[in-house]
Amino acid sequence: MQLYKGDCLEVIERAGIRGVDMVLCDPPYSSGGLFSGSRKASTRSKYTSEDYNGAARFQSFSGDNMDQRSFTEFMRMCLSRFRSVCRNGAICAVFIDWRNLPAMTDAFQMAGWVWRGIVVWDKGISRPNPDRFRNDCEYIVWGSNGESGGKPYPGCKNLPGCYHVKSVSTGQKHHQTEKPVPLLRKILAICKEGGTVFDPFMGSGSTGVAAIETGRDFIGIELDSGYYDSAALRISNAIRRRVNGPGKAQQGKAKR
Ligand SMILES: C[S@@+](CC[C@H](N)C(=O)[O-])C[C@H]1O[C@@H](n2cnc3c(N)ncnc32)[C@H](O)[C@@H]1O
Repeated sequence: MQLYKGDCLEVIERAGIRGVDMVLCDPPYSSGGLFSGSRKASTRSKYTSEDYNGAARFQSFSGDNMDQRSFTEFMRMCLSRFRSVCRNGAICAVFIDWRNLPAMTDAFQMAGWVWRGIVVWDKGISRPNPDRFRNDCEYIVWGSNGESGGKPYPGCKNLPGCYHVKSVSTGQKHHQTEKPVPLLRKILAICKEGGTVFDPFMGSGSTGVAAIETGRDFIGIELDSGYYDSAALRISNAIRRRVNGPGKAQQGKAKR
């Protein structure tokens, strides 16, 4: 396991990361609201209801206020650098919401990945949208570094293209926009056991926890110190649980 604090583009330059089998990441979406002005607001006001179940305890996170062109270029740069540390045939899977889905699929292809599809995550919950369709799904743009060669890894035949997994409840969260570990475990089925999973926007480390729990190695990067510390604690607890069995690790619960 390797964890780094810093900007992912800078860390990749100096850390000598190599041999990645899967990039699974959840970048800042630069989303929220309907118009570019509202997207510049803090992530706290965009993604949480301050008065709901202690949601105001989370710090806002960085990098979430680009306009759509800047976001496309930023993701192109990042995805291209991430690809450079991957093995041939490695898988890349990137979370995004409906607003920046077109930007992400553009950036994905411009970065040289072979785009292979979009997986749907049905969160089972969303803000009300009276008289309109609810935006209760997020998306995972995925593909491979060149051809994914040979047979699929054991256990990953016919993976579903749609996952119904409830969002993490606010009281249980470690991060404003945390992804559920049970969902990430299912997505990681496409990566071979013992393979190396890389999350360059790891937030509170949910991908790392899922990787360790499913017997994969993990490399993670996070820019914000508070979230980095939370990730380091959660992932080391996951390692302890795997080595000692459940019940031995201290609970990496969110501070309230
Ligand atoms: C959407 S959150 C990830 C949440 C994570 N999936 C979880 O479950 O906790 C994106 C994270 O990327 C971090 N970030 C933003 N820009 C970054 C950069 N240039 N390099 C590394 N991390 C960055 C933010 O601080 C934020 O915590």
